[in-house]
Amino acid sequence: MKEKIQFPKDFWWGAATSGPQSEGWYGKRHENVMDYWYRVQRNDFFNGVGPDVASDFYHKYKDDFAMCRQIGMNSFRTSIQWTRLIKDLETGEPDPEGVQFYKDVIAEAKKNGIILVMNLHHFDMPIELLQKYGGWESKHVVELFAKFAKTAFEAFGNDIEYWTTFNEPMVIPEAGYLYGFHYPKLVGKGKEAVQIIFNINLASAMAIQEYRKMHLNGEIGIILNLTPAYPRSDSKEDLDAAAFADDFFNRSFLDPAVFGTFPKTLIEILKKDNVLWESDEKELEIIKNNTVDFIGVNYYHPKRVKAPEADHFENWMPDRYFSDYDMPGKRMNPYRGWEIFPKAIYDIAKNVQDNYGNIKWFISENGMGVEGEEKYRKENGEIEDDYRIEFYEEHLAWLNKAIQEGSNCFGYHAWTPFDCWSWNNAYKNRYGFIAIDLNDQKRTIKKSGYWLKDVADNNGYEY
Ligand code: BG6
Repeated sequence: MKEKIQFPKDFWWGAATSGPQSEGWYGKRHENVMDYWYRVQRNDFFNGVGPDVASDFYHKYKDDFAMCRQIGMNSFRTSIQWTRLIKDLETGEPDPEGVQFYKDVIAEAKKNGIILVMNLHHFDMPIELLQKYGGWESKHVVELFAKFAKTAFEAFGNDIEYWTTFNEPMVIPEAGYLYGFHYPKLVGKGKEAVQIIFNINLASAMAIQEYRKMHLNGEIGIILNLTPAYPRSDSKEDLDAAAFADDFFNRSFLDPAVFGTFPKTLIEILKKDNVLWESDEKELEIIKNNTVDFIGVNYYHPKRVKAPEADHFENWMPDRYFSDYDMPGKRMNPYRGWEIFPKAIYDIAKNVQDNYGNIKWFISENGMGVEGEEKYRKENGEIEDDYRIEFYEEHLAWLNKAIQEGSNCFGYHAWTPFDCWSWNNAYKNRYGFIAIDLNDQKRTIKKSGYWLKDVADNNGYEY
């Protein structure tokens, strides 16, 4: 028999995108690493599609907010592009056109009664800062980020209630410096990746420091991709591998964000291996004193790990301490090739509740990417994405169980409101509640959009 899965009062029902993935290349702005990558290596991008038009949010934000409202969303996340807001990257001087654009976006969200979560960095480092200083490897760039943050708070501080500093900061070292799937596409740069982890934590804390200095009314947090690391077995070797993967990929950002300190076990290993980041007392103080008010958690798939297999690395790599484990029989998303494991949402919630002071948090991304979704379009034009509805209902049921058990979760954001540009995967994997036809930018609500409206209206669903 079905039962009602009921969520707490004022629960957030929404979805997330980001500036670089939705706005398109309009107005005056600097080039970011993704724009540059597309300019120099176009065939790295699915179907050769780049960020020039993206989802044309720059022109269509009014229609988009109206449609988001129509499908029941009470909240929405995007990001301010560093490359759009800032005219002078060294001084942090704003570009009036950029300021005006985000002011208009903020006003429009308000008009539609939509709570806006505004993020500051979603993989979009200005290319000049990478080429000139080494991007996140550089402490000078950390300072420039803090200036950008300060400019953003000065311009919109009182209009935004919920700020976040970074989206999935771990992806920057992981994808750009360890495994080479995002620009600068480096592989095996463990030491650099470790320094970047520190520098981004410092950048986030410095942004929070700027925010606190202004005594604004809202709250500030960070969005982390917390990926539970499940061991292959209960053997000591597999358990150690899982503990390391958790320290490195999750806790290296979660602990400083919430407690202002890094996991001791991680520091010991990095010290022993002679790859610990360079830091000074002042920087550690800033991290210690500028923790978050809330966290956002992006969850797509778990990590399965086993004791390390390889024993030789040219440079230091986290893979010295774990290997990925391809678990037989795991349930897969046939389109995106990611494992589907809804219970991980419950495990994340319990971890936050039990080990992180039950800090308030929300699911800031969760979603099912589908390639070739057009084949599910019906005659009336609607995409019948039952697979996505099923995916959400399963994940939400586990989230609800955790909330019933006391987890301090205040919302659920899917990835994404409308299909958007996903870096080198471009529009390969569609995630939206609203489909976008890339030929004419026409929007159509998918079946999951109407489902969301129902869930939001009832603050729950029958399951
Ligand atoms: C998330 C990122 O991890 O994954 C997004 O925050 C990204 O920026 C999303 O678009 C989906 O990725 P993909 O590769 O499946 O399109």
